[in-house]
Amino acid sequence: MWYNNILETIGNTPLVKLNKLTKDLPCAVLAKIETVNPGNSIKDRMALKMIEDAEKAGLLKPGYTIIEGTSGNTGMGLAIAAVIKGYRCIFTTTDKQSREKVDALKAFGAEVVVCPTDVDPEDPRSYYSVSSRLVKEVKNSWKPNQYDNLSNSQAHYEQTGPEIWEQTEGKVTHLVVGVGTGGTICGTGKYLKEKNPAIKILGIDTYGSVFKKYKETGVFDKNEIYPYITEGIGEDFLPANVDFSIIDHFEKVTDKDAAIMTRRIPREEGIFVGNSAGSAMAGILQMSQMFKETDVVVVIFHDHGTRYLGKMFNDDWMRDRGFLVNEKPKAVDLIENHKHLKLVTANENEVVHDVVAKMRKYNISQIPVVNDAGDFVGALNDSHLFSQLLEQPELRAEAVKNVIQPPFPFVRHDASLDEVSKLITKENNAVMLKTMGGNIHIITKQDIIDALG
Ligand SMILES: Cc1ncc(COP(=O)(O)O)c(C=O)c1O
Repeated sequence: MWYNNILETIGNTPLVKLNKLTKDLPCAVLAKIETVNPGNSIKDRMALKMIEDAEKAGLLKPGYTIIEGTSGNTGMGLAIAAVIKGYRCIFTTTDKQSREKVDALKAFGAEVVVCPTDVDPEDPRSYYSVSSRLVKEVKNSWKPNQYDNLSNSQAHYEQTGPEIWEQTEGKVTHLVVGVGTGGTICGTGKYLKEKNPAIKILGIDTYGSVFKKYKETGVFDKNEIYPYITEGIGEDFLPANVDFSIIDHFEKVTDKDAAIMTRRIPREEGIFVGNSAGSAMAGILQMSQMFKETDVVVVIFHDHGTRYLGKMFNDDWMRDRGFLVNEKPKAVDLIENHKHLKLVTANENEVVHDVVAKMRKYNISQIPVVNDAGDFVGALNDSHLFSQLLEQPELRAEAVKNVIQPPFPFVRHDASLDEVSKLITKENNAVMLKTMGGNIHIITKQDIIDALG
């Protein structure tokens, strides 16, 4: 048995029980693994459906250009369908999106225009406005408009909903979905509620998005809107695909909790998925009191982890945002407080008296000593110096090379806190570190105390 083209492989994705992340929950949690779609996301389903409905309606004809504002996954679905069906694609996206997502669209021959994130949707520079302008400018073009095009939720009403109903043999009690355009949650949720009105449909929202407040108060509050990091979910306007009557509750998840959980899913469940899966899982844990033993919770894992290798799966990216928690600091973390400062050194030929003055000026208790070539040839620390000067006050006028101790040892930037602290002793009270960027820094006992405090 074979498929006639890649589009026929869209859908019928597996439903997989989670076992470790959910160990403290009373209920079963089953994840719908949408990464096995050809574009590695659930969006393949609605992209094809929007195209086929537009073809039927005569809006999209051979040789036309598809123009859409997309954060990547919808673009990927459209781009794949466009390759098979012979359309050209132009996508507008925001500078918040991962580089990998943009490059992946280009891999399918699509053109991508990157627009600023931090502007209103109505701003002419926004990715919504730019795509609307391009549709007017490019002849024979069609804009799917995934936000307001109801073929989007219809795809999930026809596919995702029935799949979940059949895969759980009608046992599903809760559906948990990150909400962007609203297509996934509302299409799937509508189908499931028609089958069993008791099924609870739970939307995951981000801080910085309008959904939760609108659902709870009916107020579209512009003050809720601010830039956030989580990708794929939350909006600053109300897309037509969001049918609030289908969604029972919105749960907001912070960028940090979503990012941390995104990293835990592959480590604990062996499933490599993206940021909205992390957000949804973090939301499920937040909502744990809503579930009981007999419940069967289905969560949608929208897209693949490879698209976030430069972000949530990158330690530096996580560290820069303060998202790495409970991680024992490494050598490179210990220089955090002074990494912007240039290392203070003494030349081996400088006079002891001058070096003491320098140490006083910079308020430091130890100093690395270099030769004229810049090599580290020794070190000085104040207690060693103090005892030497007490015995021989005349040393004050001599070159420091006559009083120095061995140079401070270098450590790897990923050396553990334990390794570093073992090297710091009474005799040797600092270590040195060369950063990836080639700068040299000193790590002292104080840095270790700061890290532990
Ligand atoms: C990674 C990811 N997660 C979640 C969503 C939200 O899905 P929907 O637009 O169907 O609400 C999207 C859609 O843009 C997405 O790309």
